[in-house]
Amino acid sequence: MNMWTRFKLRLPLDNRAQTNDMANMTQSSDTALDFLLTRRSRPAKLLTGPAPDREALKTLLTAAARTPDHGKLEPWRFVVLENAAMQRLSEAVAARGLALGLAEDAVEKARASWARAPLAVLVIASPKPSEKIPEIEQVLSAGAVCLALLNAALAAGWGANWLSGWASHDRMFVEGELGLAPHEFVAGVMHLGTASQTPPERPRPDLDAIVEYVAQ
Ligand SMILES: Cc1cc2nc3c(=O)[nH]c(=O)nc-3n(C[C@H](O)[C@H](O)[C@H](O)COP(=O)(O)O)c2cc1C
Repeated sequence: MNMWTRFKLRLPLDNRAQTNDMANMTQSSDTALDFLLTRRSRPAKLLTGPAPDREALKTLLTAAARTPDHGKLEPWRFVVLENAAMQRLSEAVAARGLALGLAEDAVEKARASWARAPLAVLVIASPKPSEKIPEIEQVLSAGAVCLALLNAALAAGWGANWLSGWASHDRMFVEGELGLAPHEFVAGVMHLGTASQTPPERPRPDLDAIVEYVAQ
């Protein structure tokens, strides 16, 4: 921000003077940075109960909803599936898999994944009509919500895993069983629960291979 803009907005030279203590803390937090540098998902198949209750979940969803969203369109929403609902839906997943003619092991893998989940939050991408904000930006925002929810859950000490799977992309299943509108889709099936163990680290990207500096 240049001096003229600062003058027009009547902002002090040091923006930090206008923020509260909590915001200051957030702007510079070694703890948060350490978390981001070491965070990793816990495989859904290793998650057990307890899962976050509705009160604990409210904090996580509040953090997830605090996600960059161009135009404040809120092009996403949440469907919280508690354990009994996951078990009920696991039978619908299996029936749909069989109707689609999928291989038996693929059907069983999907059924078991839903049946054993202590809790899953579906992040639903729900793009809004807009002349200004392209749909791709709204979809990217939904993906960012998934990561924000994953990180909030991990930071709170829960085990969490961002999954998808064929059922989450099947229109018959998501519209018929999950109540999605035709223009909506599942951005993430976010499994939350208690992690019994920490998985070994997975290889991380080689930054030299994916970073390009443009100096001038
Ligand atoms: C959109 C999306 C869908 C995913 N779906 C699956 C899935 O169905 N099954 C799976 O094993 N991993 C899936 N993953 C990968 C895991 O969420 C995750 O990348 C992996 O467990 C490592 O996570 P970490 O970097 O937090 O350690 C998916 C990731 C994304 C971004």
